Amino acid sequence: MSKYPTSPATRRDFLKTSLGTAAAFAAAPGLLTAGSPNRKLNLAFIGVGGRGGGNLGTIAADPDVRVVALCDVNRQNLDRAAAAHPEARKYSDFRELYTRVDDIDGVVVSTAEHTHAYATLPALKAGKHVYCEKPLTHNIYESRIITQAAASANVATQMGTQIHGMPNYRRVVELIQSNAIGPVREVHVWVSRAWGLQSAEEAKAHGDIVHVTERPTEAMTPPDYLDWDLWLGPAPARPFHTVYFPGPKWYRWWDFGSGTMSDLGSHWNDLPFWALQLDAPKTIEAFGPQAHPELAPASMSARYEYGPRGEMPACTLTWYQGSHKPDIWQAGKIPQWANGCLFIGDDGMLLSDYGKHVLLPEEQFADFKRPAPFIPDSPGHHQEWLQACRTGSPTGSPFSYAGPLTEANHLGNVAYRVGKKLTWDHERMQAIDCPEADPFIKRTPRSGWELV
Ligand SMILES: NC(=O)c1ccc[n+]([C@@H]2O[C@H](COP(=O)([O-])OP(=O)(O)OC[C@H]3O[C@@H](n4cnc5c(N)ncnc54)[C@H](O)[C@@H]3O)[C@@H](O)[C@H]2O)c1
Repeated sequence: MSKYPTSPATRRDFLKTSLGTAAAFAAAPGLLTAGSPNRKLNLAFIGVGGRGGGNLGTIAADPDVRVVALCDVNRQNLDRAAAAHPEARKYSDFRELYTRVDDIDGVVVSTAEHTHAYATLPALKAGKHVYCEKPLTHNIYESRIITQAAASANVATQMGTQIHGMPNYRRVVELIQSNAIGPVREVHVWVSRAWGLQSAEEAKAHGDIVHVTERPTEAMTPPDYLDWDLWLGPAPARPFHTVYFPGPKWYRWWDFGSGTMSDLGSHWNDLPFWALQLDAPKTIEAFGPQAHPELAPASMSARYEYGPRGEMPACTLTWYQGSHKPDIWQAGKIPQWANGCLFIGDDGMLLSDYGKHVLLPEEQFADFKRPAPFIPDSPGHHQEWLQACRTGSPTGSPFSYAGPLTEANHLGNVAYRVGKKLTWDHERMQAIDCPEADPFIKRTPRSGWELV
């Protein structure tokens, strides 16, 4: 018999009551205005190169989707997408796209991280469904604004953490929530990708895609197909340089991305967040090299303390990226997976990656009978969102869930950049007695890019 809330419905109830701002998605107002649920869904796509090209291809393959608008600051990417969807309106500035929303049911946002909130908020305010790539936003303040706007809009939302829709995470959540390893008080999550600030030798050894240690002083001319000013959007102006462009080079620059912590943390911390029903941490402390004002580190770790949740006890979650690894991994006491999420319970351990998991010690669990699956299969992360747009069915990573997850990931970076253990006041969105954290929690956008 399960000790913890287990069903998706219970999970949603938990979110609704424990997160305050996070109203569960009930029924989309778009459904009421969109006529027959059988009619085609009219979607706009903002950011159609890179991951956005993949999202467009997958979503537009649904025969009941119509692509009505495409937006990209890169004319090559826009023209490529438009060639496949010649009937769609074309834009380079999403603020212009939002001047005509009468025929749009939903928006898919796959721009660089620093423009996610700015491309998403107008859609929510207009009552449109939104699929937004991870990380949901560039900073904590933006996450809070988007989470609240999504709750008010009551539309179908999904953050692009597609691993969430695959079977492996479901089976892990079932095991943890069925108490297979007893109460969990400790979690370790590690990824071996080492992109970011590091020595030239380390960058080479780690297969980094660019090596850079300071902001370039020389300016380069942007390619003629790129609107660099629109690409910068709310970020402070700086001259174009190929150390930022194309993606994913920009991920490491604090002005544009938030490094690996929020990039891969969106996928990997998703699992403990879901299984252990985490929300706002009480404290956060980070470890790594001296923080750089411009660049995220290749290697770092961050330790979070979470209070009790329902019947679940207080626990710690430690994130490791690059060369940092948990002690138990370094000591060779668990399988040497390059990336993993290790739950340590009172009665055993569970190690998972994206596609597989194992109960440890394996001998102890040789005769273990796993619970019958009780979390329904997903039709796929994109399809889940499309169904939600049409019928009001739930999604796995609605903004009520993805917002707090994104905030927690950003908090690891805030603690790292401040260089102090933070005590987090979730309601006030403040690190207690630490005003130096404020600029990393919220930034003032460039003129013309207010988040309203
Ligand atoms: N879910 C996943 O597994 C996954 C994988 C890769 C990337 N991502 C996420 O997808 C997002 C995009 O990443 P990427 O690597 O594809 O980046 P990218 O820079 O390669 O592509 C971004 C696309 O958006 C366009 N764009 C940028 N700013 C824009 C703006 N203001 N308006 C309109 N278009 C704009 C770019 O021109 C480009 O076509 C990021 O948030 C990233 O974290 C998710």
